[in-house]
Amino acid sequence: MRLIIGITGASGAIFGIRTLEALRELKVETHLVMSRWARTTIAHETNYSLDDVEQLASEVHREDNQAAAISSGSFKTDGMIVAPCSMKTLAAIRAGYADTLVSRAADVVLKERRKLVLLARETPLSQIHLENMLALSRLGAVIFPPVPAFYNHPKSIRDLVDHIVGRMLDQFGLDMPAMARWRGFSASGE
Ligand SMILES: Cc1cc2nc3c(=O)[nH]c(=O)nc-3n(C[C@H](O)[C@H](O)[C@H](O)COP(=O)(O)O)c2cc1C
Repeated sequence: MRLIIGITGASGAIFGIRTLEALRELKVETHLVMSRWARTTIAHETNYSLDDVEQLASEVHREDNQAAAISSGSFKTDGMIVAPCSMKTLAAIRAGYADTLVSRAADVVLKERRKLVLLARETPLSQIHLENMLALSRLGAVIFPPVPAFYNHPKSIRDLVDHIVGRMLDQFGLDMPAMARWRGFSASGE
């Protein structure tokens, strides 16, 4: 399997990083492209260096390189995850405004009818954000805001992040190692 991973400048750079770590463990080939503002949020929000993050990917592409393999539909992939996805990149993808390699790669994934998962992060959401999300969802993209679950009793931020990453990887039929899944119980409702 081969996936494109975009990391943009929304808060939550750790989601993209943990996604890369999980995919590496799962032996999935990854093509990473980070925006200029992703580089800032990684430095500001995490203890990872840019080099650490790049080492996690099979291949790294520069955001301004529209000649990269992932810029063309003839380069076959199984889809793309943008995690986190800023409202600016969401708007660019919705409009088909492929001015960076992140938005171009996503545009290609949509036109080729491959799977596009957007970990869209902003709160609260304006009508512009919501309309962009609805339009993209209608085009087949999966809008995947990083909303935490509590039914699995997370004990740390890492648990919260990993559960979200695991649920996102479910979209590609991948099993995040050691993800706690809901098994159900018999509730009376009282
Ligand atoms: C620390 C930090 C946190 C940010 N958080 C968000 C966010 O959660 N959502 C968002 O849409 N933009 C956020 N932004 C703004 C984006 O970085 C900005 O709109 C940028 O132009 C996005 O460009 P990109 O999508 O090419 O990375 C944040 C910026 C900084 C510096």
